[in-house]
Amino acid sequence: TEPALIRNFCIIAHIDHGKSTLADRMLQITGVVEQRQMREQYLDRMDIERERGITIKSQAVRMPWSPPEDAGGGDGGRGTAHILNMIDTPGHVDFTYEVSRSLAACEGCILLVDAAQGIEAQTLANLYLAMENDLTIIPVLNKIDLPAAQPEKFAAELAGLIGCDPADVLRVSAKTGQGVGELLDEVVRQVPAPVGVADAPARAMIFDSVYDSYRGVVTYVKVVDGMLGRRERIKMMSTGAQHELLEIGTNSPEMTPADGLSVGEVGYLITGVKDVRQSKVGDTVTRLSKGATEPLGGYKDPKPMVFSGLYPVDGSDYPELRDALDKLQLNDAALVYEPETSAALGFGFRVGFLGLLHLEVIRERLEREFGLDLIATAPNVIYRVVLEDRTEHVVTNPSEFPVGKIEEVFEPVVRATILTPSEYIGSVMELCQNRRGTLLGMDYLSEERVEIRYTLPLAEVVFDFFDQLKSKTRGYASLDYEPTGEQSSQLVKVDILLHGDKVDAFSAITHKDKAYAYGVRLVARLKELIPRQAFEVPVQAAIGSRVIARETIRAIRKDVLAKCYGGDISRKRKLLERQKEGKKRMKMVGSVEVPQEAFIAVLSSD
Ligand code: GTP
Repeated sequence: TEPALIRNFCIIAHIDHGKSTLADRMLQITGVVEQRQMREQYLDRMDIERERGITIKSQAVRMPWSPPEDAGGGDGGRGTAHILNMIDTPGHVDFTYEVSRSLAACEGCILLVDAAQGIEAQTLANLYLAMENDLTIIPVLNKIDLPAAQPEKFAAELAGLIGCDPADVLRVSAKTGQGVGELLDEVVRQVPAPVGVADAPARAMIFDSVYDSYRGVVTYVKVVDGMLGRRERIKMMSTGAQHELLEIGTNSPEMTPADGLSVGEVGYLITGVKDVRQSKVGDTVTRLSKGATEPLGGYKDPKPMVFSGLYPVDGSDYPELRDALDKLQLNDAALVYEPETSAALGFGFRVGFLGLLHLEVIRERLEREFGLDLIATAPNVIYRVVLEDRTEHVVTNPSEFPVGKIEEVFEPVVRATILTPSEYIGSVMELCQNRRGTLLGMDYLSEERVEIRYTLPLAEVVFDFFDQLKSKTRGYASLDYEPTGEQSSQLVKVDILLHGDKVDAFSAITHKDKAYAYGVRLVARLKELIPRQAFEVPVQAAIGSRVIARETIRAIRKDVLAKCYGGDISRKRKLLERQKEGKKRMKMVGSVEVPQEAFIAVLSSD
């Protein structure tokens, strides 16, 4: 297709503002999916996904669309057929880099806002990314069929935000289809055609890469310059890896093989590789012979930000856990893990994630899809520790925090964007200050809605920040954040000791002002949860050799036979057996027996 007839766009929206519904409606109006097939087809797909435990998503769908002849000429009939490529963007903050790569494959975007809700934090975060990528932005209000819709008010808000006339804000109902055809006309009219050099060496950008158990990795690309053809040998520019293009084509919405893709076109490649790490988002694909020498900008290795130890509740599940992680990694280039052992929890893995949501998704999949019962240690961020002798240590497990003389400790920070009704400004700022935040700025989007920007330590955001924010604003605030580097902070390691032995799973790195509170809380919880032993057990929290909190579990002699008034032998045996059973679920920490449930309870209360 002529680049002049191609329009590449995406839809950006806050969750639940109707992105999927609008996409469905577009597929239907352009005739790519028939109305009656629609639901069935999408449901079928999900069943297959569930059965096979894979994801086949349409990361990019090609739709034909003929806008009306330009005003002035013609008879009001339809004009030239264009190709619209709708590119899906991952919705969540953890995947900012993937979002920005998807946006880089587009020339324009639809900024979709719920006409009953207005702008939310994710709307803004994605809008900023779209602006950084120089995309043409089409503001659209959705759900105008709702009685609660306030299109006038939110059109003004949206217009104020992006600097356009409120009259230019389109109004649609993704549910009824109202205004969706006109929106497609505007996409053709406003979004620029892709530009590239047709006779230059081929360069295509990878904006997504998914694993399919039948076909291997399916790689989604946008061809920026030149052309890629079937059966050609290609090269990944970041790694130099070479592959043969077994298949190339477009989705509309099923995979449709083609002879090749040329300038401005969006489609998929299949090379037979089995692991998405060989086909990485952001990388540039070129031809092996007469290939390009300069990659397209933007390649970044996904960097895990949050770490947690994952341990099977039943130690014999360790091999299953390893296999499950291996499988998930095929489809997730950002997932990293290495084996680790904990005196308290046994054999497991230290796993790195892009963020908290990523962690939750992986954990949930391990439990649901692989039937594993897991204990996860409290998530922690990555620390850079500089010792007095200038050596540097990267710490992903708090129990491995170096003991030498520490010069400085660095922790990752994020730039957080919070949107809230103005009556909650005070509570939101108080929360952010308590979490060691630095105010960056504040803007009123309208009289009653405010955007507040903070720099916050990631460690303070990963715990319950979002829950706290929601509860302090009655659910009205929304949050988005992106990593922005690191800062030097006064951080210390707090160890928890049982009878003088460290419990590695409970070591934590905290700000020095919060160490005491952490210590006191954990020590009190453990005292509650650990049964009395044959001897007195001190439970202590310590920074280095300095004890900052202490409780004592008093001694008890647990004589199970005492109740058996002599006589009944079989009853006696039963009791003894039961006591042995109970012991199996105990873990030894030094000389102290701790029920595994105690670890789980303490870890899950964080
Ligand atoms: P994903 O993040 O991809 O799941 O999509 P989304 O969260 O942006 O929104 P989705 O399309 O799932 O829509 C969220 C809810 O809003 C659903 O219950 C839709 O039925 C509803 N919805 C979407 N568009 C409209 C609309 O135009 N009118 C009304 N009344 N409801 C709508």
